[in-house]
Amino acid sequence: MKYFLEMNFKQTLQTTHDSFYVYNEDNLVNNFNEFLKSFKLSYDNVEIAYSFKTNYLPEICKKINDLGGIYEVVSEMELDLALKLENKKKIIFNGPYKTKEAIMKSLLNDVIIHIDSLDELNIISELLTSNEHINCNLGIRLNLSFASDSISRFGICQSEIKKILKLISSNNRIELKGISCHLPNRDLKSFEFRTKEIIKIYDFYFKNKIQYIDLGGGFPSILQEDLMNQLKLKNTNIKEFAKKICSILNQYFNNSKIIKKPKLILEPGTALVANTMSYYSKIISEKKIKNKIILSSSGSKFNFLGTNNSNLNFPFTEILNPEFKSRKFRNVDIAGYTCIENDYLLRNISSSLIKGDYIKIEDIGSYSIVMKPPFISPNVPIFKVFENKILELKRKETFQDVFNTFLI
Ligand SMILES: Cc1ncc(COP(=O)(O)O)c(C=O)c1O
Repeated sequence: MKYFLEMNFKQTLQTTHDSFYVYNEDNLVNNFNEFLKSFKLSYDNVEIAYSFKTNYLPEICKKINDLGGIYEVVSEMELDLALKLENKKKIIFNGPYKTKEAIMKSLLNDVIIHIDSLDELNIISELLTSNEHINCNLGIRLNLSFASDSISRFGICQSEIKKILKLISSNNRIELKGISCHLPNRDLKSFEFRTKEIIKIYDFYFKNKIQYIDLGGGFPSILQEDLMNQLKLKNTNIKEFAKKICSILNQYFNNSKIIKKPKLILEPGTALVANTMSYYSKIISEKKIKNKIILSSSGSKFNFLGTNNSNLNFPFTEILNPEFKSRKFRNVDIAGYTCIENDYLLRNISSSLIKGDYIKIEDIGSYSIVMKPPFISPNVPIFKVFENKILELKRKETFQDVFNTFLI
């Protein structure tokens, strides 16, 4: 079976759309297997809980399940998707806002709830009191802050752990399964920090009391060199992250009196999906303003960057109309369809693109479709190219999709 991330010019026309995304499942499978293998080399009990928020394309979530991964969700919407895709599949419910209804749904479906506050534990206790037939699988999200000058708002801080443990042990229908943490930093040093910190906390409060340690997500994806330089990242090799993390864990567990090493859960999103999607858009006009050549396109940076205001130039490929043979390279900007001044897909690139060609922006699978605002235009379709056939995974959004919830 072969998936193609690349469409040729003829195929772009066959889609009948000016802008669209293309998904490549082969890259997802490779990323998942490489990620798991890297950790299993040094720590045998490892599980991947895929972060839905990074890209909840159902095709991706279902494949994660086929590959043996479990699900990490952070809202009732994501929980509903997880339950719809795989009833009773192992699901971790994280995040700082869980409604009473979502917590109840989790309790009824054996979902592991990672509490972010004492208040959430109180809601769980209330629900258990009024529903005698249910039990709770619990995890505790721990608060960690990497930089000393800033604090993270997520998780439970160490000063509250004793109180939380007392509440849990007073209710024999709550089973404490594990502890978790997450930091947004993608560098090796921050992973070293979070692993050492969680081990310290485990040693002090949770020794031999829990089944897993969950280190969260934030792992880097495979990056093309230019993007790696723009992001100022030096090391994105997942094997080195795995080696560092597992060596800290093994050093502790091999030297302490632990009855059973806890399972290691990891919650990658970006590392699994960044290079599974590309975004195509058509060059629709050309103009020269002062000395600048601006090629306007049918696409927008909002389609792959959400509302993130970064000026990154993602890797790209030009899909040229083969009928135009005489081309020359020029320095151009590729502009977006919105009315925001800085909506450029790419700036200052050397290009032979002309009106009618397509530009493909690569490696945009993470925080793209999930963050596209309904700003100015609805979102475009998602395709996959499988054995030379173009299949639609998500249709183009319509006026109705955007305005159905308004009173008109
Ligand atoms: C708790 C948690 N787990 C996993 C992730 C996924 O992170 P990434 O997509 O960077 O791997 C996030 C992202 O914010 C998160 O907050």
